[in-house]
Amino acid sequence: MAANTCCRSILIPSVISLVLLLLLAATAPAISSSEGRTLLERLNKRSMKTIRSPDGDLIDCVPSHLQPAFDHPMLKGSKPLDPPARPRCHTDDGMADDVVQLWTTSGETCPEGTVPIRRTKEEDILRIERFGRKPFAGASQRTNLSDHEHSYGSVKGEQYYGAQALFNVWAPRVANRGEFSLSQLWIISGNFGTDLNTVEAGWQVYPELYGDILPRFFVYWTNDSYQNTGCYNLYCSGFVQTSSSVAVGAVITTTSTYNDTNLQHAIRITVWKDQKTGNWWLQQGSTVVGYWPRFLFSNLAISATIVEFGGEIINTRPSGFHTTTQMGSGHFAEEGFGRAAYISSIRVADRYNTLIPARNLRYNAEAPNCYDIKGGVDNSGEGYFYFGGPGRNARCP
Ligand SMILES: *[C@@H]1O[C@H](CO)[C@@H](O)[C@H](O)[C@H]1NC(C)=O
Ligand SMILES: *[C@@H]1O[C@H](CO)[C@@H](O)[C@H](O)[C@H]1NC(C)=O
Ligand SMILES: *[C@@H]1O[C@H](CO)[C@@H](O)[C@H](O)[C@H]1NC(C)=O
Repeated sequence: MAANTCCRSILIPSVISLVLLLLLAATAPAISSSEGRTLLERLNKRSMKTIRSPDGDLIDCVPSHLQPAFDHPMLKGSKPLDPPARPRCHTDDGMADDVVQLWTTSGETCPEGTVPIRRTKEEDILRIERFGRKPFAGASQRTNLSDHEHSYGSVKGEQYYGAQALFNVWAPRVANRGEFSLSQLWIISGNFGTDLNTVEAGWQVYPELYGDILPRFFVYWTNDSYQNTGCYNLYCSGFVQTSSSVAVGAVITTTSTYNDTNLQHAIRITVWKDQKTGNWWLQQGSTVVGYWPRFLFSNLAISATIVEFGGEIINTRPSGFHTTTQMGSGHFAEEGFGRAAYISSIRVADRYNTLIPARNLRYNAEAPNCYDIKGGVDNSGEGYFYFGGPGRNARCP
């Protein structure tokens, strides 16, 4: 009896661990394409320090001149630029940005001369390969763009040199790995379908890209209407990060709570063009994050002709119905403050590098029974709107 127990107590764990080992071996990550392996090598630079974020991310502190952007032939051997003059603001509404990146909550920081970069893990590449997609290729190769639905406000008809807005942050439900939900701004010049140039920034929930359902700060750019270029964060050599405290692709901890009409958490994003160099710069709250170099662009090398603000989701019609992926808070615009997602203090930068209220915003909801939009003007004369919805419902089958 005793011998038996003893025997069993050794045998069972070893059988379990053997099975576990076999399972692990069977599921051990193996990136199949040489493209994937090269990408992983290219993205993960020599790190001076690694910070472990509670969400599972590893944040590598990489010497700023060795970050992925500096693999670009136009940047090789150079150093990141210092930020230019920030745009002037005609009013200061005092509405602060209060988002916090989760990895910074431990109090650990990146050393001087380095920038924090979210490490790309093998599983990140594998997830995307499993979808049969080229890792981080142009958006049109990754997804069917006609599956995308937007609710947005836009201005056009003038020359724009930047934009700014406050986006409240939510953690919308995303129904499956191939879908996303986001809130962002788009700075646009050129023709849709051919030579469209965009720089984009906001927050998004995108399981396929990050492997989780947490809202993250992101940047994006394309110079050919999402055909062969078009990349999030640092996946293509392009966006140059200069901040040592804000990482693109990092998790935002502060999300809004439904029906909390006292406190909503919002991220303020500013993009502006340094007209001396032609580079487009990005600021989050009061922190300059980095820039998109001028040489990435054709049309945007001059100015933007359209600026858009809004929400976007992918609807893959799982099981033949409209997706239940939420946009914004998952509630319609009519529910208003504390319940619906908003974008407020909407401004554009003029040729004098001054932020002015975006006048005559036009609103469009592409699937209004699923996700709608409702705009207005606040006391200080600045535009805002509520947007979003639950996706599939009785009116959105
Ligand atoms: C893209 O989606 C549209 C509408 O859902 C569909 O008609 C079209 O066949 C799809 N195209 C591809 C290449 O999957
Ligand atoms: C929202 O909060 C108010 C006050 O706390 C409460 O009376 C109301 O029932 C809540 N509404 C919803 C939809 O939860
Ligand atoms: C777009 O970007 C790619 C990658 O940097 C570059 O090779 C290409 O020349 C750019 N195209 C235009 C039209 O600027």
